[in-house]
Amino acid sequence: MRVGLLTGGGDVPGLNAAIRAVVKRGEGEYGHSIIGFRNGWRGVVDGDIFPLSRNHIRNVLPVGGTLLGTARFHPHSSDGGIDAVLSTLEAERIEALICIGGDGTLHAASKVAEAGVKIVAIPKTIDNDVWGTDRSIGFDTAVEIATEAIDRVHTTAESHNRVMIVEVMGRSAGWIAVTAGIAGGAELVLAPEEPFDIDKVVKFLKHRHRAHANFSIVVVAEGAIPAEGTSMSYEAPVGKFGEIVAGAIGERVKYEIEQRTGFDTRVTVLGHVQRGGSPVPADRILGSRFGVAAIDAISRGETNVMTALRGEDIALIPLSEIAGKVKHVPTGLLDVARALA
Ligand code: F6P
Repeated sequence: MRVGLLTGGGDVPGLNAAIRAVVKRGEGEYGHSIIGFRNGWRGVVDGDIFPLSRNHIRNVLPVGGTLLGTARFHPHSSDGGIDAVLSTLEAERIEALICIGGDGTLHAASKVAEAGVKIVAIPKTIDNDVWGTDRSIGFDTAVEIATEAIDRVHTTAESHNRVMIVEVMGRSAGWIAVTAGIAGGAELVLAPEEPFDIDKVVKFLKHRHRAHANFSIVVVAEGAIPAEGTSMSYEAPVGKFGEIVAGAIGERVKYEIEQRTGFDTRVTVLGHVQRGGSPVPADRILGSRFGVAAIDAISRGETNVMTALRGEDIALIPLSEIAGKVKHVPTGLLDVARALA
């Protein structure tokens, strides 16, 4: 069987583990040919193939990024995109496609599946907001990086008596902010799930600096927003491709804190550092498990599903169920962050 494979959207550490698992298991157990596509859906539309063999996956487990390349490109958003996908798959005699991606790539996958292509999806995003799975590839590495950054910022905050704002990724959900905030002992976490009241933030910091300490760490998700009707108006600036402008909310919160408290405040924007470098073991393991589950599913003829971590187990859930949904941080976890402030 000829099985296509692509990685789409933002890269994450752990993608190569999933690619490796698909190739090893696909070739070794089933004798499939794994045909990679370069740069996500772009490569499928352009017919840019990268036939994968065991040589390509040697020593890739500790390597970040994706050996297939990736792009933020969705075939259903361009004229004739889906038709181009179908004609490439036909020309290359691809019988089923494995798509590794986040919300955008998986939404495209469900559109392509509706057009008749057999698909198995694998969730990846450092944001961990793909609905239906407890974890997405890349999240654990990002949390480790963000936690280390918060630890490092702590000592300089204390030495200088400053408020340190650490802005982390998380467009629609605050998974990195909340978990790294708890792990790093942040005083406050601002996440998209709970629009914040800047007056309360300022009151909290003033009280803390009067009563307990002369420094504070505030972790802000890039997608955090002030609550409607509060005294801070803010509209997140977006870039050319709809991405949130890095540092925008962090700088804005800094401005408000400095204006209202007089506390010396600095912003650290972690940005793409959270997506770079070697994956932690948890992401290598998850990528490997998802890769094996995906090729096993295809080989059994089970398609139009996404691999998902449910507790300790890998499950397959219908692709049609996940489109358009965001997995938010549950209240219980937000409560823990608040309880430890
Ligand atoms: O999709 C995950 C993510 O890392 C978001 O957290 C972030 O907003 C976005 O990607 C950045 O995208 P890009 O790499 O295209 O700037």
